[in-house]
Amino acid sequence: MIGKSHSIVRHPDMSSEVFREMWKTILNKLPWTGIVKNRKKDGSPYWVKVTINPILDHNDEIEEFIAIRNDITETILLHEELGKTQQDMIIRIGEVGETRSRETGHHVRRVAEYSRILATRYGLSEEEIRNLTNASPMHDIGKIGIPDSILQKVGPLDDAEWEVMRTHSETGYRFFKDSDSPLLKAAAIITYEHHEKWDGSGYPRGLKGEAIHIFGRITALADVFDALGSDRCYKKAWENERIFELFRQERGKHFDPILVDLFFKHLDEFLAIQSYYTETGNERGPTSADA
Ligand SMILES: [Fe+2]
Ligand SMILES: [Fe+2]
Repeated sequence: MIGKSHSIVRHPDMSSEVFREMWKTILNKLPWTGIVKNRKKDGSPYWVKVTINPILDHNDEIEEFIAIRNDITETILLHEELGKTQQDMIIRIGEVGETRSRETGHHVRRVAEYSRILATRYGLSEEEIRNLTNASPMHDIGKIGIPDSILQKVGPLDDAEWEVMRTHSETGYRFFKDSDSPLLKAAAIITYEHHEKWDGSGYPRGLKGEAIHIFGRITALADVFDALGSDRCYKKAWENERIFELFRQERGKHFDPILVDLFFKHLDEFLAIQSYYTETGNERGPTSADA
């Protein structure tokens, strides 16, 4: 392998940093193990798990390298397939909650994308960003426990109906809370805390400030931004300017001030998502109570 790097068959997805690190390691006379994505002649990717051992001569100099390569393409492809299926299922589960309340079709997708932007700009770890983004479409899944008479009521809810509507946070939380999966743990937090408000005036627990998990604070902003921008049974979609005005007012009240600042700082990213997932062609009527 001396003088011949993997670059001859290297997949463009592989950063050259990986190979620099590999060469640095083995030229330091240490074994290197890693996963390398390569490219077949027909352009399709294949993955190999590689271990490279430097072989030293009696002067302790590198004589040659021995590489053991295992083709793990099938495992990787299965893993990708599983991830895609999981994501698809989550969107569909999330839509169950929304469809019963006849919310507009792309609501959960947009909430996921807005949450991703906020989480990234806030500086969460890659794993946190992934779990939040993947779990946020399920924020209203607890609405499966709300009767149609309330969920689809046209016009304002009375106090008793509001009380029932508010139970959807806890219903969702109970649905996920005993899971060990990091994704479903994130879903438990999001369902429980997406109606909490920074100043402590939200529900169900009236948590305040950073006592509200960052996943809850992010989903709250993402959800409200999208809900206000969409038609609902009791109102037409708000113009963006009117939403921005409300966000300025609610900075430090409903919403985490840092998140409001990030929202305005990266407004172009939010607007790109908003116009990408427009509601054109959506056959569902604008109804539903927003809780
Ligand atoms: Fe909700
Ligand atoms: Fe929502």
